[in-house]
Amino acid sequence: MQKEIKPDDGIIVLKNLTKRFRKLVVLNDISLSFEKGKTTVIIGPSGCGKTVLIKHIIVLLRPGLGEVYFHDQRIDDLPESKLGKIRAQMGFLFQSGALFDSMTVSENIAFPIRQHQETQDQKKLDEIVKSKLSLVGLDGYQDYFPAKLSGGQKKRVALARAIALNPEVILYDEPTTGLDPIRADVINELILKLRKELGITSIVVTHDMNSAYKIADRIIMLHNGKVLLDGNADTFTNSTLPVVQQFIKGETSEKDLQSLQVSFEDIRTDEGKKK
Ligand SMILES: Nc1ncnc2c1ncn2[C@@H]1O[C@H](COP(=O)(O)OP(=O)(O)O)[C@@H](O)[C@H]1O
Ligand SMILES: [Mg+2]
Repeated sequence: MQKEIKPDDGIIVLKNLTKRFRKLVVLNDISLSFEKGKTTVIIGPSGCGKTVLIKHIIVLLRPGLGEVYFHDQRIDDLPESKLGKIRAQMGFLFQSGALFDSMTVSENIAFPIRQHQETQDQKKLDEIVKSKLSLVGLDGYQDYFPAKLSGGQKKRVALARAIALNPEVILYDEPTTGLDPIRADVINELILKLRKELGITSIVVTHDMNSAYKIADRIIMLHNGKVLLDGNADTFTNSTLPVVQQFIKGETSEKDLQSLQVSFEDIRTDEGKKK
C-alpha cells in the first residue's frame, strides 16, 4: 500500500496521478511529495514518463485522475489564465526549451520578466540580467547571439533565463544531455550552487547516473507507470532489483552517445563562427 500523502507534506505534491494517452497508461496512480530546498532526480528508461511527470508539475499536461499541489494549493484544475502566476514561481529548463535565436542573450533572459510584467525598466532589467549571467558564470555575454555560443553555454543561458523570476522551484529535463562530461559537470555544479546559495527546490530528469549521484538528495526511478525505487544514491547502488542494476550500469553506452552528439554540436557552432 502506498503511504497516504497529504497535500501539506511538500512544496509540490502529486496525489494519485494517473495519465494515459489513449490506451497507453504512462503514469499509473503515482503519489509523490517533493520537499522544499531539496534536489530530487528522476530516472528511468526512455519513454517511461519522466517528461510527462514533470509537465504535470507546471500543468503543461493535466492528469486523467489525481491532483497536483503547489504550496498546498491545488493547481491541476486551474484555468490557463491563473497558471501564469504559478508558473512564474517555477523555472523550467526543458530539452526543447531552446533560446530564441533572433534575440541576444540579454533579451532572452529578460523575456520572462517582461512577459510577466515584473518590470519594463531597462536599467532594472540590465541589472537582473547581469546578476543572473554572473550566477551561471557567463559575465559579459549580454550581447551575444545564441548561434555564437557552445552547447554548454546555451544551457547556462537557458538556466539564467529559468531563474530570471527568482523561482522557488526549477524543473530540469535532461539538462546534461548532449554535453561532454566537463560541460555536464558545470551544469551539475550550478544545480548544487542554486540549492546551496538560494535554497532552490530542484526536480531533475536525467539519464546521467554520474549527475544523479552528484546532485541528488533523493533519486526516484519510474518504471511501467509506477515508482520502482525511491531513495538516495546508496539505495540505488545497493538495490538487487535487476532493472535498477541494468539501468544504472547501462550508463556507458548512453554516455558514448552523448559525446557523439556533442561533437556534432561543436562542429555546427564552429561553422557558425566562421561565417
Ligand atoms: N502528448 C502526448 N501524446 C501522446 N503520447 C505521449 C504524449 N507525450 C508523451 N507521450 C508518450 O508517453 C510516454 C512517456 O513519454 P515521456 O514522458 O516523454 O518519456 P521520457 O521518460 O523519455 O521522458 C511515451 O510513450 C510517449 O510517446
Ligand atoms: Mg523525456
